Amino acid sequence: MATSDNPDKGDSHIPGEVSRADAGTFNGKHILLAVSSGIAAYKTPYLVRGLRAAGAEVEIILTANAHRFVSPMALQAVSGRSVRQDLWDEEAEAAMGHIELAKWADVVLIAPATANTLAKLAGGLADDLLSTVCLATEAPVVLAPAMNQRMYRHPATQQNLRTLDDQGYHVIGPDSGDQACGDTGPGRMTEPEDIMLQLEAFVAPALQAGLLTGKKVLVTTGPTVEAIDPVRFISNHSSGLQGLAIAEAARLAGAEVTLVAGPGVADCHAGIHRLDVRTAEEMYNAVHANLSGVSLFVGVAAVADYRPKQAAEQKIKRSGEAGASMHIELTENPDIIASVAKAAERPAVVVGFAAETNNTHAHASDKRLRKGLDAIVLNDVSDPTIGFNSSNNAATLIYAQGEVVFPRQSKQQLANSLIGQIPEIFAQQLAGTNPASMTK
Ligand code: PMT
Repeated sequence: MATSDNPDKGDSHIPGEVSRADAGTFNGKHILLAVSSGIAAYKTPYLVRGLRAAGAEVEIILTANAHRFVSPMALQAVSGRSVRQDLWDEEAEAAMGHIELAKWADVVLIAPATANTLAKLAGGLADDLLSTVCLATEAPVVLAPAMNQRMYRHPATQQNLRTLDDQGYHVIGPDSGDQACGDTGPGRMTEPEDIMLQLEAFVAPALQAGLLTGKKVLVTTGPTVEAIDPVRFISNHSSGLQGLAIAEAARLAGAEVTLVAGPGVADCHAGIHRLDVRTAEEMYNAVHANLSGVSLFVGVAAVADYRPKQAAEQKIKRSGEAGASMHIELTENPDIIASVAKAAERPAVVVGFAAETNNTHAHASDKRLRKGLDAIVLNDVSDPTIGFNSSNNAATLIYAQGEVVFPRQSKQQLANSLIGQIPEIFAQQLAGTNPASMTK
């Protein structure tokens, strides 16, 4: 049995306080953290602290050799509970039997999940506490793989991950980077704070109800880039995180999700159909090629409204004259969301985002009507702690009959709340009983 499926090393990021999930995010939730034997296990005390700070109760299981990478005593100290290491521990079983533990969990998180653990789970083995609990639980099981990049790329591991995906396991990461063995590549465990952000999606009750089961959802995210010449472009600060979170929340709510992503947007879950584009025109084409049968369209992308009329074929040179100015003629890009709202195959519900800096409510409401949208999500991006390129956001969902205010929270939490609310607000439209747009 492998004891170490290699590992991360030399972190540029040493987690201190895991602070990106809001206090209360996991209030009262039971999280069963299973730690298998990889070096990334040393990060798990930070994870436990973060989960508890966000309100969770955490029980911990270690696999046979995980104590070589993280001290059970440290985990006991941060979790406030004794750590379980053996299926045959009579005392622990008397306190809470392994089947009870499987029932207790709202979410089972395996971090790090080594190649050996993935193989065991894919094969349905039940020869230790972790594998037994995973077979017995009805809670979502979330895996954060960590191993050497060759082990990760090995066809056996890839096949195991596909099998686990088919069986309904959820996978977070891994990240790519330097590894302890000197290799570079995929296999680093996702950082604890990012694991927490993604875990939020599993504790939102609305998402577990499968609110969008059987529906097609199309999401745009990220910036677009518009070439000035072969080396320069017009773009903006969008990271694509908010749209990624919306796509993930919709996927977890049971939807079949297509994500049209601008450049630089991070990876998404393999279950999301992703199309990468660069320019507004490419985004427009990708959206219209995938509009058929879509029930909910969410335009989160920060699309460049204008592009240079003519991108120079060669790099533009300085004129050489002191104080010289130059002009770039711009032409308007297509308004993607407005065209979706007018399309013959208009989705039942069309939701836009508005990044505003002044007169925010008036501008967003006006945009909603002008573009023919059912709802618009207003974020005030004059606040540097939210919006573009931040992990947090605060927003107001504005629709014809009312509005809902979402205070500052993580983008995943906001996405979960929005995807929890939208099917409720537009239930009739999504059910097809009121196909007319409610934009007035
Ligand atoms: O990507 P992140 O770093 O996570 O940041 C998230 C965000 C701030 C980008 C996001 O929350 C947001 O506000 N997105 C909309 C950004 C914007 O600038 O919107 P807008 O006011 O230009 O456009 C309004 C709506 O029309 C949007 O739904 C937009 O996608 C859409 N639009 C705009 C122009 C255009 N040519 N086509 C469009 O479809």
